[in-house]
Amino acid sequence: KKIVILISGRGSNMQAIVEACQAEQWPAQIAAIISNKADASGLVYAANRGIPTAVVPSKEYTERSAFDQALLEQIDQYSPDLVVLAGFMRILTPGFVAHYAGRMLNIHPSLLPSFVGLATHRQALEAGVKVHGATVHFVTAELDHGPIVAQAVVPVFSGDTEDSLAHRVLEQEHRLYPQAVRQFVENKISIIGNTVHISEPAS
Ligand code: GRF
Repeated sequence: KKIVILISGRGSNMQAIVEACQAEQWPAQIAAIISNKADASGLVYAANRGIPTAVVPSKEYTERSAFDQALLEQIDQYSPDLVVLAGFMRILTPGFVAHYAGRMLNIHPSLLPSFVGLATHRQALEAGVKVHGATVHFVTAELDHGPIVAQAVVPVFSGDTEDSLAHRVLEQEHRLYPQAVRQFVENKISIIGNTVHISEPAS
């Protein structure tokens, strides 16, 4: 299976996936790391690991659909079985999303459907929730609303700040996302209606 990972910045989730793919010898390869930002530090990491990289600079496109088309053409050069959004800070057009239906994942730093959008840790603190977390989901045209593949829960402590909470969630992301991507490349994930089913490892 071929995986393309899209990043916009540090790419810590991308790194976790790259390392797990190699260490656990998934039936998959990371075909490319693509960013919409030329200065994304995750690109340096990928290049150092010998993974092909590419940049489709979103700042050079005034039309969202033109950027998405350029990005799609770049991605499809690798004929991916799975597109992974990892800290990819762009809202994608319905046409782009439809093209990768059923084979594009995202990780969102909250327990969806709570706290869609940005600043999720601040939303959580302001809401006074006692648990928070991260969600891996299939990407659909509706932002942060696709079928949920996996979730991780962390406690919220009374002294928490956005940073302390973000750090606790990110730690779980780095476990949750590689596990979900591995299940996808091992054909253990199926969607029935809006519900994702994961077949347990053969005992
Ligand atoms: C993380 O909080 C992730 O949930 C969100 O982007 C943030 C940065 O991710 N998608 P990364 O370090 O760039 O993978």
